[in-house]
Amino acid sequence: MTTTVQAWPEPVVRVQHLSDSGIRVIPDRYVKKPADRPGAAASEGSACDIPVIDMSSGDAAALIDEACREWGFFQVASHGVCPDLMARCREAWREFFQLPLAEKQRYANSPATYEGYGSRLGVEKGISLDWSDYFFLHFLPIGLRDENKWPTLPVSCRELAAEYSREVVELCGKLMKILARNLGLREDYLLEAFGGEEELGACMRVNYYPKCPQPDRTLGLSSHSDPGGMTVLYSDENVSGLQVRRGDTWITVMPQPNTFIVNLGDQLQILSNANYKSVEHRVLVNSAKERVSLAFFYNPKGDKVIKPAEELVLPGQPLRYSPTTYNDYRLYIRMKGPCGKSQLESL
Ligand code: OGA
Ligand code: NI
Repeated sequence: MTTTVQAWPEPVVRVQHLSDSGIRVIPDRYVKKPADRPGAAASEGSACDIPVIDMSSGDAAALIDEACREWGFFQVASHGVCPDLMARCREAWREFFQLPLAEKQRYANSPATYEGYGSRLGVEKGISLDWSDYFFLHFLPIGLRDENKWPTLPVSCRELAAEYSREVVELCGKLMKILARNLGLREDYLLEAFGGEEELGACMRVNYYPKCPQPDRTLGLSSHSDPGGMTVLYSDENVSGLQVRRGDTWITVMPQPNTFIVNLGDQLQILSNANYKSVEHRVLVNSAKERVSLAFFYNPKGDKVIKPAEELVLPGQPLRYSPTTYNDYRLYIRMKGPCGKSQLESL
């Protein structure tokens, strides 16, 4: 596995500037197949939503366990991250995206590391594109963190991103313990399986979904499950867009103020021997409002072997996955971009 791709195969188009140009018809590259478009599946209304769990309540652990088995997704309140910090961090990133194009281009990313300002996932030439731009940065392990690659403008951005990341990492640590105990494992089992605090990976993708003149024909982010460990998403509470797959339908998540949306990634599905689910999700865009979300990814150390916990391989619950490392696992996604759950099924 040595292929690193140094450059994007085609000129990169900033979706935000496409949107600002006032076009009424989106370029073909963003038009999805009819079956993948927002209106194709029956979607349930707001009567059904992912569980919202207050982490300070006595039954939080039991509710989290149920959500991990049933949904792979939940929202958490009383999570310990300062609400003011959350809001300030998100607004700093919104300001970043409002800067002139030339300023943002200083951080233009390449597929070698994805760090910086980007507008596509997947390096294969000709793939379908999504209606979003993003900024990707590494926080852990410390050796991968390079704050010089983070925006200098707005002036508070670096400091807020670092403080936000520190607090979210702490929340992830708490959640990992809850998940491990819920699975009947030692409470440090999952953290250790990820390489421990010193070696695990943590990175953030700030997603920017510009207004779209034809939101029924495209997606802000195509259907995918998150390849890593666990994702903590802070979404714009005034603009919905995230949808979670539930059987053949898509449920629109209604973000609550000051909460995080947590979802399990493929590595936790593997470690839990499929007791817990990494569920497909996607993002819709709209013509009225842009949307900003902070997706924080908590991942195993790249070269650590990930396999189902032995305690969870039982008569009637056979071993479901062959061992992999996260580095090998994500190569496929880095080539193809978001692609449902096909990767996990191949293990
Ligand atoms: C992601 C993701 C959802 C959103 O970044 O992997 O699923 O609402 N984001 O931005
Ligand atoms: Ni995702």
